[in-house]
Amino acid sequence: MKKIIIINGPNLNLLGKRETNIYGNLTFNEFFEMITEKFSDVSLEHFQSNIEGEIINKIQDVGFEYDGIILNSAAYTHTSVGIGDAVKAITTPVVEVHISNTFSREDFRHKSYISPNAKGVIVGFGLQSYELAIQSLL
Ligand code: DQA
Repeated sequence: MKKIIIINGPNLNLLGKRETNIYGNLTFNEFFEMITEKFSDVSLEHFQSNIEGEIINKIQDVGFEYDGIILNSAAYTHTSVGIGDAVKAITTPVVEVHISNTFSREDFRHKSYISPNAKGVIVGFGLQSYELAIQSLL
């Protein structure tokens, strides 16, 4: 069974009640239950943190062992050299995802420290971005 982890960054614990016009009405737990059922032949895990160093620790913990990391580092995407370096350091392929189309939003969201070292980037398909990322790793 393939081991894939979804790592979500800051404020994504508020999905379902945060800027629902951009991010939708589902909580991540509700969505995670749906995809766990849909991809029952995959070992899917989810980790969320609002803390940059915890995200780096998790990437290091799984990054030489798991079959794939789906990373939405949220606002840290646009600021974190440390998370970018962690993605570069590991051997597990990383698919960067964003719920919203960051390129249709403010200029500061156009820069990503993750993309140069990601296997690929999926942006702007709502929560479906995560499903597309899983499919890309299978
Ligand atoms: C986001 C886009 C980021 O710019 C933003 O800071 C987020 C969420 C997305 O999934 O659309 O928190 O990563």
